[in-house]
Amino acid sequence: MAAPRYVCAASLSERNLQMKFDTPAGSNPIDQLKVIGQPADRIDGKLKTTGTATYAYEQNAAVPDAAYGYIVGAGIGKGRIASIDSASAREASGVIAIVTYENAGPLAKGEFYVARALAGPQVDHYHQSVAIVVAETFEQARAAAGLLEIRYVAAPGSFDLATAKDSATPPPPAGFGPPPQTSAGDFEGAFNAAPVQIDQHYSTPDQAHAMMEPHATIARWNGKQLTLWTSIQQINWGVRDLAKTLGIAKEDVRLISPYIGGGFGGKGTILCDAVLASLAARHAGRPVKVALPRPLMFNNLTHRPATIQRLRIGANRDGVITAIGHESWSGNLRGGRTEAATASTRLLYAGANRMTRLNLAVLDLAEGSAMRAPGEAPGMMALEIAMDELAEKLQMDPLQLRILNDTQVDPEQPARPFSKRQLVECLNTGAERFGWQQRNPQPGQRREGGWLIGIGLASAIRGAPTTASAARVRLDRQGVITVETDMTDIGTGSYTIIAQTAAEMMGVPLERVVVRLGDSKFPESSGSGGQWGAASSTAGVYAACLKLREAAARAVGIDPRQAEFVDGQIRAGSQQVALAEAAANGELTGEDRMEYGDLAERFAQQTFGAHFAEVAVNAATGEIRLRRQLAVCAAGRILNPKTARSQIIGGMTMGAGAALMEELAVDHRIGFFVNHDLAGYEVPVHADIPHQEVIFLDEVDPYATPLKAKGVGELGISGAAAAIANAIYNACGVRVRDYPITLDKLIGELSYPV
Ligand code: MOS
Repeated sequence: MAAPRYVCAASLSERNLQMKFDTPAGSNPIDQLKVIGQPADRIDGKLKTTGTATYAYEQNAAVPDAAYGYIVGAGIGKGRIASIDSASAREASGVIAIVTYENAGPLAKGEFYVARALAGPQVDHYHQSVAIVVAETFEQARAAAGLLEIRYVAAPGSFDLATAKDSATPPPPAGFGPPPQTSAGDFEGAFNAAPVQIDQHYSTPDQAHAMMEPHATIARWNGKQLTLWTSIQQINWGVRDLAKTLGIAKEDVRLISPYIGGGFGGKGTILCDAVLASLAARHAGRPVKVALPRPLMFNNLTHRPATIQRLRIGANRDGVITAIGHESWSGNLRGGRTEAATASTRLLYAGANRMTRLNLAVLDLAEGSAMRAPGEAPGMMALEIAMDELAEKLQMDPLQLRILNDTQVDPEQPARPFSKRQLVECLNTGAERFGWQQRNPQPGQRREGGWLIGIGLASAIRGAPTTASAARVRLDRQGVITVETDMTDIGTGSYTIIAQTAAEMMGVPLERVVVRLGDSKFPESSGSGGQWGAASSTAGVYAACLKLREAAARAVGIDPRQAEFVDGQIRAGSQQVALAEAAANGELTGEDRMEYGDLAERFAQQTFGAHFAEVAVNAATGEIRLRRQLAVCAAGRILNPKTARSQIIGGMTMGAGAALMEELAVDHRIGFFVNHDLAGYEVPVHADIPHQEVIFLDEVDPYATPLKAKGVGELGISGAAAAIANAIYNACGVRVRDYPITLDKLIGELSYPV
């Protein structure tokens, strides 16, 4: 095939160390799709499946002399420390140091989390860290921790969202997430006048990230230089927050995080393991390693806050929505963020009269923060049941109701189109593939022996943000490309899609690319979070590769504007030179950073999908079995269908957890999450979901990035739980609006013969 001439549509100022993406992407080398878009295996897969990937706690080769730190969590929900007697702990065998607020020195807070990494004398929440004990071995540290005598004076706290709800107020606008209040038209008037109305409350519980790898850090001081091997999603936030917390210069902090065993939003930036390991290492005079024991994680760290939501939807008898209102209440430590559950309702369906309102109460539980599509996941759990209820009231197919109320413009700002929106295509494709037309709208009509069978659907929507990301790309004289960026791979596939990007840009096979991630000495990336990592980090690598292409072409005397990079060669007209030749006189480097203009303001940029679920509900016991799930997604160019599919399946699994299992049970007297381990906090396992299928629609979004790609990390969960809830209703006729949907909420309501 004739090689196309590539024009970079970004306003490319080739001399600057910064490229700006502010016009839609034109044709570029990525469009060759020789490597991008292929289902490449994870390049880190073998290391992970053979147990040889070195996670934070396993960096023994780098830090052979680390002592062990053990963190002690507060035994009250709120109050203060009256005294700490550490005499016997200090005497215990192997003990090297004990750090509490009494000897820690001043500690500030980072910019993202509001909870303090170390309590004292005030205790802000249960299991907030009160001490770290350092010893020669883990067992010695743990044993000595048990000898600390800490006396508390407990104070009354606010632990129940339902009680605190009435004192909630609109939160201040956050750095990201929807504004606390939005409106268009006259919601109240239109709702009251609507001939068909839904007005319901829904609730979602506190949830835990429950990632596999616990938070863990090894800290080492070298003079004033602090190095941390840690498990973190955003290296740049971590450097910023650790420097601020400890009152040291950012330049003196280095974070290393090559492999991460899941984050799910819970490792956005540094938490107590990083701060206390750093303090402990300073006191001990040697490196210290710390992992949070699982039972400490649930109350010490962050979680997704519970919500109470009210949905009001008014429609004409033909199903056209005329009014849509969504209010949500959540709680947090003072100053903490709100669970922004209204985000999707602002954009998902048409309707001239609209209102969303967030309300935040002060609660004294552990800090609520980002988890697995924060805002959108719990918001869609409510909105998409409400749509099912509206369809039933209208006696309309829930699929048709959604299609009827599709919009190609931001319904709050009709002058702002979506950059790309294939919601209807997702719904229709899924309906056909899943067998939606076999659905009986009457619950209880389909059964297999003692089991009632139902199917349900929900729309999916999730924001597609991008953020600045930089990378450095090197070419050596063997023709090997090495990419360096502080991007993280939290199990998502970053290593692989970054390698694919560099391979495509430089015209080499994937095997010729080495990717080095997760080190703050590399150029600053977007990090992993908010579904922005894949799109942003690959755009940074794209920019760096353009620089390297230019340097390589010049090195072999080819006009960079004519140069094509194909099959390990640089070509222009009749000229062709092996790529490795360009580095014959020494390694070449390209470094750049991709920034974004106002395309995301001018065009609503979201990812879309449709979720389908089939369940069986036991007519006698109310036991629910999830039988199959399907997600159809439209999310820009899919960089690697294998890793993207894994992302969506992970999200669907989290949706199943949210629908059926996951709930932190709050003790309202003492103020803590009771089920603080993986025996009590249940997440789905393979046996819970026998069949999952994912379909990606063919899509490119030139408004998103030069790769025309978007992230998919959080799309898979947004809507997935409601599809299951709707399937349960279709199976057994019981409408549960309080997640998770457990059999105790069904059993008293079941009315079909056993
Ligand atoms: Mo994600 S929960 O925004 O890391």
